[in-house]
Amino acid sequence: MRTVPVSLGERSYVVHVGSGLISRLGDHCRRLKLGERCVIVTDANVGPHFADAAVRSLKMSGFVSSLVTVPAGETSKSLKVVGECYEQFAMKRLERKSFVIALGGGVVGDLAGFVAATYLRGLPFVQVATTLLAQVDSSVGGKVGINLKAGKNLVGAFHQPKMVLCDLDTLTTLPEREYRSGLAEIIKYGIIRDAELFKRLEKEMDKLLQRDVTTLTAVVSRCCAIKAEIVAEDEFETKGLRALLNFGHTIGHALEAISGYDEYLHGEAISIGQVAAARLSAKLSTLPEKDALRIQELLAKAGLPVGVKLTPKKREALQEAMRSDKKVSGGELRFVLAESIGQAVSGQRVTDAEVTGVLNYLAELP
Ligand SMILES: NC(=O)c1ccc[n+]([C@@H]2O[C@H](COP(=O)([O-])OP(=O)(O)OC[C@H]3O[C@@H](n4cnc5c(N)ncnc54)[C@H](O)[C@@H]3O)[C@@H](O)[C@H]2O)c1
Ligand SMILES: [Zn+2]
Repeated sequence: MRTVPVSLGERSYVVHVGSGLISRLGDHCRRLKLGERCVIVTDANVGPHFADAAVRSLKMSGFVSSLVTVPAGETSKSLKVVGECYEQFAMKRLERKSFVIALGGGVVGDLAGFVAATYLRGLPFVQVATTLLAQVDSSVGGKVGINLKAGKNLVGAFHQPKMVLCDLDTLTTLPEREYRSGLAEIIKYGIIRDAELFKRLEKEMDKLLQRDVTTLTAVVSRCCAIKAEIVAEDEFETKGLRALLNFGHTIGHALEAISGYDEYLHGEAISIGQVAAARLSAKLSTLPEKDALRIQELLAKAGLPVGVKLTPKKREALQEAMRSDKKVSGGELRFVLAESIGQAVSGQRVTDAEVTGVLNYLAELP
């Protein structure tokens, strides 16, 4: 097991990464000096695999837990499901000292975290992340929230967990496509912050694809450490540093939006977005051409899509989706670009013509 500290003053916590962690969940919670009552929020896919082990471990450590199971999928990040959770919490007589355990992927983490942030004006919560994406990204950093019809993550809060467990054994049941989607965020950390990690991924992608626990322990904990560093320096996203985490996300988010969020998984969309951002980095920043190609090749090696052919209508919709981003950031389209592999900068101006150029490039890729 590796332990990564997240240093946020009195809101500091640790991320444990390793095997067999759910069976020690009770032990780990004991050390946090929380109340004895807790609720585990999980979804209909994750619960049947791991909820029993979690409940058993909590019971052995003297906790009284109960289970709230929500439907699997993004639609559970809604006001309706939040309301249902509040009612369940009330029925289970949660009190100020009780705590919430999010057992699942990013959806459960964002939902349960938001409910925890607001019920009784805030309950402590623990993240037990069961997707690769949740383990390297959403469970660390304290952003919690839900979607509205008008857009994703429009309602939310900053509510740091008291602890994060990344039990790598949970990944054995994760569908292949979901697993590969998480690899896109892992590659992103190499690009924005760690050339050594990037090289390691180039060398060990096969082992990662086989979900080798030793490789995963090293890689997942390194990604958590990078996210922890960035969050520690810019917890509330006021200094522009946290924006680095959005490498590949400008075009990625727009692709997700125009395809109604059901064609691409998030990691697939940002894989294509990262290829685009790498091209733009080679053109407008100092990223060597050959390194833009290395980025593209590594994403392809992870089994992720790198190109996209859009009909003229979809292209227009994509540019429009990005223009609505533009309004938010003061009239100009801004990108995170890589200066080299391992170093990125945010807030880089990119013109519509340059975006068109990169869309032409993406259309030629397989
Ligand atoms: N808060 C943040 O900082 C942050 C960062 C990135 C993403 N997110 C959010 O995370 C969400 C996406 O998270 P995700 O990709 O983990 O999706 P998810 O939680 O929907 O999980 C993906 C699918 O895998 C299933 N699943 C989860 N763990 C499993 C396991 N171990 N075995 C079998 N099936 C399992 C789920 O039921 C679901 O069907 C989005 O809503 C996104 O907005 C939040
Ligand atoms: Zn992302």
